[in-house]
Amino acid sequence: MNATDVENLIILARKVLPNAYAPYSNFPVSAVVVGESGRAYVGVNVENAAYPLARCAEQMAVGAMVAAGERRIREVLVFSTSREPATPCGACRQILAEFGSDETPVVCVNDEGKTLRFTLGELLPAAFRLKPSP
Ligand code: THU
Repeated sequence: MNATDVENLIILARKVLPNAYAPYSNFPVSAVVVGESGRAYVGVNVENAAYPLARCAEQMAVGAMVAAGERRIREVLVFSTSREPATPCGACRQILAEFGSDETPVVCVNDEGKTLRFTLGELLPAAFRLKPSP
């Protein structure tokens, strides 16, 4: 993912971050998943009074991509305002692996511009898959 790509995804992520519904953790997160078409899908975390039902931003972005008819992730950006950029939780790594490959870039950025770059394979080595990786 080149710098311009990342900058454009950050603009999208910043725009939707205020829509995060995180009244219990006060930890808003937004995510952008880019499908193989080049279209970007955004998601924010959506929490619930029944705490374990919280849904992460990455999961919501993947859901939007699949609902739009896409099945392959080209790149992922996760945006938070924490001192250290938030990285996808274990469940999200598995959900991303369903539609992304070991080479899929995952970039985690905070509002100060601190950036951590990974591939999905680094975040989830030996991912469990029943289909060949896309
Ligand atoms: N969260 C995300 O949405 N994505 C991440 O990458 C890390 C954690 C959410 C889940 C929960 O709503 C809040 O952040 C605190 O864990």
